Parts: sequence; C-alpha cells; structure tokens
Amino acid sequence: MKAVILAGGTGTRLRPLTLPTNKHLLPLYDKPVIHHAIEKLVGAGVYKIMVVTSPHHIDSFVKLLGSGQDFKRPDGKQVQIVYGIQNEPNGIAFGLHIAKDYVDDDNCVLWLGDNIIEDDIAPHIRGFKGGATVFLQKVKDPERFGVASIKNGKVVGIQEKPKKPTSNLAVIGVYVFDNTVFKKMVGKKKSSRGEYEITDVNNEYVKEGTLRAVMLKKKWFDIGTIDSLHEASMHMRKKSKHKK
Ligand code: G1P
Repeated sequence: MKAVILAGGTGTRLRPLTLPTNKHLLPLYDKPVIHHAIEKLVGAGVYKIMVVTSPHHIDSFVKLLGSGQDFKRPDGKQVQIVYGIQNEPNGIAFGLHIAKDYVDDDNCVLWLGDNIIEDDIAPHIRGFKGGATVFLQKVKDPERFGVASIKNGKVVGIQEKPKKPTSNLAVIGVYVFDNTVFKKMVGKKKSSRGEYEITDVNNEYVKEGTLRAVMLKKKWFDIGTIDSLHEASMHMRKKSKHKK
C-alpha cells in the first residue's frame, strides 16, 4: 500500500495566514498540519508516501519533510517521502493521477492533507481487500461536501456538493483505492467547478458494487477555515494534555 497526500490549494478562506505559505504547513497546535496525515499513515503501516503540491510551495515541503527522515518505521528504517507537482488546481482526481507511476501496480490511500481525523483507520488500511473504502460522518452542512445516498444500509451514489442533499452523511477526504482507480478516471470530464472530481471516480466503484463505506465515530476536521483550524488545534491541545 502506498499513499498520496494532496497538499495543494490556495487556501483563500485562510487568508492572510496563507498569503506567504500553504495551509498544510500552518501549525495545528504543536505540529504542521501535514504531519497529522503522515503520522496516521505511518501508524497504519504505510511507509511510501507521495506529497502532491503546487510548484510555489514544493520547496517549503522539502525543507520540512525532506525524504521522510524524521518519520520512523517500527523496524527503525525511515519512511520514504517523495514529491509530485500539480501545476494547476484542477481537482482531486487529477492530483491523484499525478501519482499514477509512483503507485504503479500497488493499492493506495488518498489523503486530502487538510482532513484531520481522530479515528484509527489502520484496520481499514491493513485489512483492505480491493475496491474502494470511503469514510462517512454525519454533518450539519452536507451541501459543502461529497454526500452519500443510502438505500437499505448501502451507498447507492455520491453527489458532490448537492444543493439538496439526500442525506447528512459527508464523505470525508481519506479514501483507500485498489489499482483500478486510475482506469476509472479515464474519460471523466471536469465538473461545473472546473475540477476532475474524486466523487465521479467513487461512483464508478459504486456502479461496480465494490465501494465500502465506514462510519467514523470520532472527530473529523476539514481545516479550510480559520475557525475549523482553531477548533482542530484546541482539540489537539486537549488531547495532548490528557496524554501528559
Ligand atoms: C473534497 C471532496 C468532497 C469531500 C471533501 C472532504 O471537497 O470533493 O467530496 O467531501 O473534500 O474534505 P473540496 O475540499 O474540494 O471542497
């Protein structure tokens, strides 16, 4: 299993904090935001990670993460971090496609770097048996997310930011895909917001009957706004005080 962390974007809703930098480099209490995804992946036994970001910020990511030397595997070896460059902000599916040759014939976890989750998803990564696994959580504002339509307890479709959501179950930004994910992107068109949507790819798995959905039980933050970044930082602080 390899992983692809998408860490691009302009972070407009986090301005002025993101004027000189990228939102994944901002502090989340005591660590940069991107450390969260890396630590979760390493904890789940994923040691080969491609960080995909824009050409404007790649040097800062290299300064911060290097080749992964600060992240250790249980056997003492270092985690491998490599980089991909997304020249244009043309969508999550496109960002994943940049990692196609790196993922090669492996399966992969796609992690949107601004998604902070508390649940342990290691069992779903370690026990992955093909198809796609998505994670859901109930939200008050489903129209801001990919939303799962459910029938008889099964996901029968996902809509990207629907005006009239059919449920309050948001699809969060962490996905586990088998290697057919790249084939499933072929022929897809940009959405009305001008992006290649990961939701279109997920719907291919739905059609095939191979999409598995797991409900998250603990906290999830999408740190796209000042308030959510602050809330996530406060949450991390509280958790780290409990640990000490
Ligand atoms: C993206 C996905 C959406 C998902 C969300 C989670 O939205 O397109 O389906 O629910 O991440 O953070 P975006 O961040 O591009 O608005």
